[in-house]
Order: sequence, then structure tokens, then C-alpha cells
Amino acid sequence: KILILDFGSQYTQLIARRVRELNVYCEIHPYNKIPAFSPDLKGVILSGSPCSVREKDYPNPDLTPFLGELPVLGVCYGAQLMAQEGGGEVIASTIREYGRAKLNHVDQHNRLLKEITMDSQVWMSHGDTIKHIPDNFEIIASTESVQVAAYKVKDQETYGIQFHPEVTHSTEGKTLLRNFVVHICDCSQDWTPDQFIETTVADLKEQIGTDKVILGLSGGVDSSVAAMLIHQAIGKNLYCIFVDNGLLRRDEFEGVLHSYKDMGLNVKGVDAKDMFYTALAGLSDPEEKRKAIGKVFIDVFDQESHLVEDAKWLGQGTIYPDVIESVSVKGPSATIKSHHNVGGLPDFMKLKVVEPLKTLFKDEVRLVGKTLGIDPAILGRHPFPGPGLAIRILGDVTPEKVAILQEVDHIFIKSLRNSGLYDQVWQAGAMLLPVQSVGVMGDERTYERVVALRAVTSIDGMTADWSHLPYEFLADVSNEIINKVRGVNRVVYDISSKPPATIEWE
Ligand code: XMP
Repeated sequence: KILILDFGSQYTQLIARRVRELNVYCEIHPYNKIPAFSPDLKGVILSGSPCSVREKDYPNPDLTPFLGELPVLGVCYGAQLMAQEGGGEVIASTIREYGRAKLNHVDQHNRLLKEITMDSQVWMSHGDTIKHIPDNFEIIASTESVQVAAYKVKDQETYGIQFHPEVTHSTEGKTLLRNFVVHICDCSQDWTPDQFIETTVADLKEQIGTDKVILGLSGGVDSSVAAMLIHQAIGKNLYCIFVDNGLLRRDEFEGVLHSYKDMGLNVKGVDAKDMFYTALAGLSDPEEKRKAIGKVFIDVFDQESHLVEDAKWLGQGTIYPDVIESVSVKGPSATIKSHHNVGGLPDFMKLKVVEPLKTLFKDEVRLVGKTLGIDPAILGRHPFPGPGLAIRILGDVTPEKVAILQEVDHIFIKSLRNSGLYDQVWQAGAMLLPVQSVGVMGDERTYERVVALRAVTSIDGMTADWSHLPYEFLADVSNEIINKVRGVNRVVYDISSKPPATIEWE
């Protein structure tokens, strides 16, 4: 495997994505928590960083266990760090170098740069530059303004590059990473979904043995794939719980429960709609609604988990970005639960945790799910928030409002599917606004609700743009909603991007 030491660059996860795309396994670890040396480690990549080696207290871990022992590739800050620590000089660039540049010198005999063409476009993003390299280094690539665009340490497999091969604007970045990972580190390209499933199922069998595992299904991709993997390992000893909180899409609970049963899962559907509606009654504040829903969910799940005698494990669909987030250079995020009051936790939270997807990125989870034969309708589903329609009904939530919104949402989503637009949109849904407006239907004046439709394109939900859905499509959806859903006489389309707006309205 490859170890990626994270110095806090926004691109660190991208490096890992690119290495995984080469079917090579890699792990990201913060530079200040380097894991113990393991025999399967074949090479190390040092990421970029928002820091500068010219600052006081710059990140400077001890790399001696690696340097000269294993191939090492420093990217941007990583390259500057090794150059400076080796006796070279790093200075502030006179201009901040940001954007596309072209290589004008490439040592094509160098193994890192094999098949990289002269004139190759690379992506630069740095404020410092390497002015002098140490005597035992050699320059292997340059651009017009950056002489040390890439270097090699003469008697070691240690390399530094000033540009970012992981960003697609570096058009031959993937070739460079392949040269490093496959040819220089000699990693075999056998990290595939099949191989992942085989080793994970074997590990789970060993880890869990004949114990019982409880797992909460949500209908989403991650919990479904996690359940199928654990199911392959331990079969009926996996007890799945799928809670109907009354805030799901129309027909979703029955439909998804059915798919789960078809997949052979031992799953119990729990109708807790009334408990959720009761807890939500009269609450209008978004955070209060979220808290109420979270609390009821924990109560229901705790109660159900007690019905499984002797359960020892809690299965979870945690994926790699969640793990990286919680151990990142910037420190654990504030949302990670503190374990100070273990006594006060619900009983199911005292179970040992098993997280079979914790090394996978989202698209890898989908690939694994596909290989496991999971229903494509589950794998390709848009993200849906845990509090469900409750945060799409602005103001207080009642079963009647949920029913109206379910119909509106159903027409919108069904139309997206029928017109082949569903997969082009990252997430879509409808909001029920606490506003009534005047309309006319036949000879009568109406005074009814307004709904807003929202569809966005995004990579990860952190930023998003509104989807430019065709006008004809929006016109048809609007007509169908107003004609079919009693109580709604006006439809608007949300054309805000995130930031400054958010995807949800609450
Ligand atoms: P925002 O509205 O913050 O949403 O742009 C970003 C993504 O997060 C989802 N979301 C939630 N998911 N519980 C969840 O499980 C929540 O309380 C919640 N709020 C927002 C939202 O659907 C979008 O995918």
C-alpha cells in the first residue's frame, strides 16, 4: 500500500482518489500521527499544505524512517519541505503561482517522468518556490517561471514536484502518479471491488465469529452496502432495523423494505411514525426539529436493539471521508461525539462498532454495491437528509403537510426519472412553504400553498449549483403538481447556488 501524509492541503483526498483509481490501496494519515511501519508499505506521498516552510513551527515530521528506505514523492509543500530540510533554500515567490503552466524541460529518462511529454500542462498552486536544491538533488522538470518544477534525490528514490498531479488540469498527472506508484513503488494493481469484498468478508468472519450484529438501515447507499457485506460474512446473525419515521418519500418505506428482503437481509421494519409526529408537534425551529427527530430515533433504535438478545456489535456505514474528517490535521470536528459520559449513552451505543466501509470513498462504495448485486435503484439514489421531509416543511410539521409534500415530491422525482434527468442531478426535492397565495381555478378564487422545487448539481454537497432543468420540463412538472395535488396552487423553482444559499431550506 501507499501512505499519504496529509499536511492539510485541500487536494489530499484527491491524491488518494487518483491512487485508488490505479487500483492501488492507499491510506491518508495526518503528518503528526504517522502510523507504525508495516511490511506492506511500498511508498509514501507527502501532500501539499496551506502552511509554509518559512513559518515558525512549520509542519516538519521525522521522515528518516522513509527517506532512502522507500520511494517518497513530495507534492508542493512536501517537495519544498524535503528540499529545505536537505539543505536547499525555499523562498516566497515574487508572484503567487496559481493556475495552468507548461513544462518546458522534462527529463524523459527519469522513471517518474516516463511518457510525460514536453509542453505537458500542469496545475500550480503555491506561494513559495524552491530557489536552490541541495547538492545531491537534480532538477528533472521545469516550467518557464518555476525552474524546480520537479527534482530527484540522486542516490534515492525520493522525488519532489511543485505542481499538483492529482488535479485533472495537470493533463498527464495520472501518468506521473502511475509511474510513481506502479513502476517506482512496485505496487500491484489488485485493489478491485471483488478483491475488497473477498478480504473484507473474510476479516468480518474472523472479527465477529458467531456474535450477533445490529445495524440501522436508512435506505441510503452506505448502510445498505455495509449491511450486505456483513450479511455475506455472518448471514442471519445480522439483525437489521429499518425505522419508518413518517418523514420519508412516498412509498419509500415499503419499497425499500421489500428490496432489502429480496436481498436476503434479516430486516425488521418498525413503524414509529406516530412517535415522530408527536415529538414534532408544535416545533418550528429547524434545530429543535432535528433534535426531536434524533432523540426519537435513538429511543426507537435502543428499544429495538434490546429485542435482539446478546447482541455484541453495532454495524455502521461510516465511509472514508468521515474517518479522514475525524482525524484530520485540523483536529477532530466538533460533531464527533465525546465519550466522556459513556454511562449516559443509550445501550446500543455501548456495543462494539464494526464499520466495513471505513476505507472506501463514496464511488467505491457504489462499485462494491454493484459487485454485490445490490438493487441499482438503491445505489443510484440521490442523498436524502436523515430528518427527511421534516426539514423541507418550513415551520411546524403535521401528518397532513407531510402527505401533501410527499405527493409533490413524488411527481417531481418521477418526472426526473421519466425524462432521464435524474442521474444528471445530484440531489432534488420539494419544499413546502409556510405561505399561501391567491390563484384561480375554474371560476373560483383559491388561497392555497406554495411549493418550491430544488435540484442541484454538486460533487460532495459542500458546494452546489442549481440545475438548469429545461423550461418545458419545469412547466410540465408545475402543471401536474397544481392539477393533482389538492392544496397547492403555485410552484416556484429555486435558482440559488451554495454558497451563499444551502441545498435544504432549513
Ligand atoms: P445543506 O442544506 O447544508 O445540505 O446545503 C448539504 C447536504 O446535507 C444534507 N443535510 C442533512 N443530512 N441530516 C442529514 O442527514 C441533516 O440534518 C441534514 N441537513 C442537510 C442535505 O440534504 C444535503 O445533501
